[in-house]
Amino acid sequence: MSNFTRNVVAAITVLVLAGTVSFAQSSGEATYKAKCQMCHGEKGLADSGAGKAMKVKPATDPDVKKLSEAQMIDAVHNGMGKMQAYKDKLTDAQIKDAVEYFRTFAK
Ligand code: HEC
Repeated sequence: MSNFTRNVVAAITVLVLAGTVSFAQSSGEATYKAKCQMCHGEKGLADSGAGKAMKVKPATDPDVKKLSEAQMIDAVHNGMGKMQAYKDKLTDAQIKDAVEYFRTFAK
């Protein structure tokens, strides 16, 4: 590897690591917007195209409101219906924060 290539590789590595760290620290809102909003909608109302197509229930639906935070975390962790499991894609903290953000829409 030439010095130039090595420097480029090092620079890319730093960028990738920096991106991962800032992502891990991002708020539930950021995680929600990046990973959940396309199905659950901007305000948790599942009014997006994918949300309607998959018949996702809005956060204000009685069936959704009766779920505890722990049950919701579980649903996201292990998947629910057509929703994939996120346990390999997001950290437990990211799932918890995204669920907490989602729950603000049910009020
Ligand atoms: C590909 C579309 C899709 C994505 C992306 C998605 N979900 Fe879901 N989600 C669903 C579907 C479908 C269900 C099950 C049907 C239902 O009851 O809404 C569901 C169910 C849930 C539930 C259980 C309560 C409920 O609405 O039934 C929670 C909580 C939830 N999702 C949160 C999240 C969070 C947080 C994320 C992002 C990390 C996420 N979802 C990403 C489609 C999706």
